[in-house]
Amino acid sequence: MTTQEILVPRAGRPESPSRIVIGDALPRLDSLLERRRSVVITDPNLEAAYPELIGRYPHVVIGLGETHKTLETVGYIYRELLKLGADRGSYIVGVGGGIVTDITGFVASTYMRGVSGFGFVATSLLAQVDASVGGKNGVNLDGYKNIVGVFHQPDFVLCDQGMLATLPERELRAGLAEVIKCGLIRDAELFGLFENHTFGSFTADAELLHRAITVSVTLKAAVVAADETERGERRLLNLGHTFAHAVEKCTGRYLHGEAVGIGLCIAAGLSHKLGLLSASEKERIVAVVDAMGLPTAVAPDTGVTPAQLLAAAASDKKREAAEIDYVLMDGIGRAIRRRMTLKELDALAADIL
Ligand SMILES: NC(=O)c1ccc[n+]([C@@H]2O[C@H](COP(=O)([O-])OP(=O)(O)OC[C@H]3O[C@@H](n4cnc5c(N)ncnc54)[C@H](O)[C@@H]3O)[C@@H](O)[C@H]2O)c1
Ligand SMILES: [Zn+2]
Repeated sequence: MTTQEILVPRAGRPESPSRIVIGDALPRLDSLLERRRSVVITDPNLEAAYPELIGRYPHVVIGLGETHKTLETVGYIYRELLKLGADRGSYIVGVGGGIVTDITGFVASTYMRGVSGFGFVATSLLAQVDASVGGKNGVNLDGYKNIVGVFHQPDFVLCDQGMLATLPERELRAGLAEVIKCGLIRDAELFGLFENHTFGSFTADAELLHRAITVSVTLKAAVVAADETERGERRLLNLGHTFAHAVEKCTGRYLHGEAVGIGLCIAAGLSHKLGLLSASEKERIVAVVDAMGLPTAVAPDTGVTPAQLLAAAASDKKREAAEIDYVLMDGIGRAIRRRMTLKELDALAADIL
């Protein structure tokens, strides 16, 4: 399998970029951690699937799911680190999906005002193409997603494709939603991969998946390099996410990536309504989301109303005053930002949701 390395610059540390390794990446771990006092943070599924890897290091295991991405879990990890004798010189490695990597980055940046360094073994597709890259980390609070956190890029991210073999299929599909998102933001060719291949080809063809991961990470790395702390350009990466967060919050039923699939279809609908996307472009987007086995709309039996989704979207943390920074598409592979008042979004979205 091809293995590739992508470097993401880190503000104020030009000599030491964040290093993303994609492909047969896990064998690099030992040399990266050589002579470091490392502690691993992981979840029970990874501990069960990779007992040898996890067992090599002192480790802390956190609970599964979004409801554990909280300050309570952060407190639990701090206490476990104290018990393990971890200090500022320690090195922290998150081995897991986006929940483990988001929380590990936050813990590593705050425990004793920040430990000597941290890295990730990103084990879900979603973590490999999105969550682990770019240094946004943090936790949820009272139903608000990622409302507490810091920007701090890891020293390294290992995206080992072999580890995806143990990832449940539903999670793999959810990860593909973020890849589709990358295509829609900047890369029509990446989007085209989904029109020309079935879901089965992404699981069967390691080189195809490698290409999808590499192109997504490269795109994210470029956007992050231009705007590490999300003042402008980086907000494009939120395509589909305003309503994805609303869907997650209101239904409690969908995985993050599934909610992103729905959010992308809503963004396509809004972009079409504004005359930015043609009807056929909108349909192509919905068809690709559907073909990857992802939901394209909130299921009616959730009982969630458009008004509830709009209220949840309005309370999204990216809102500033009465305006929302919404990401639209003015073509496939061309995302744009538009500031909208909540009233405008209400009027536009009411019959699309
Ligand atoms: N920081 C960012 O920029 C960013 C970007 C996108 C998403 N996120 C966050 O990422 C989180 C979602 O990440 P996720 O989808 O990876 O969720 P997750 O961490 O819950 O992982 C998904 C599930 O798959 C299991 N799993 C992961 N890798 C496995 C493997 N190789 N083998 C077997 N099981 C495996 C996990 O135990 C879990 O049950 C959300 O909290 C989201 O907010 C963050
Ligand atoms: Zn996402």
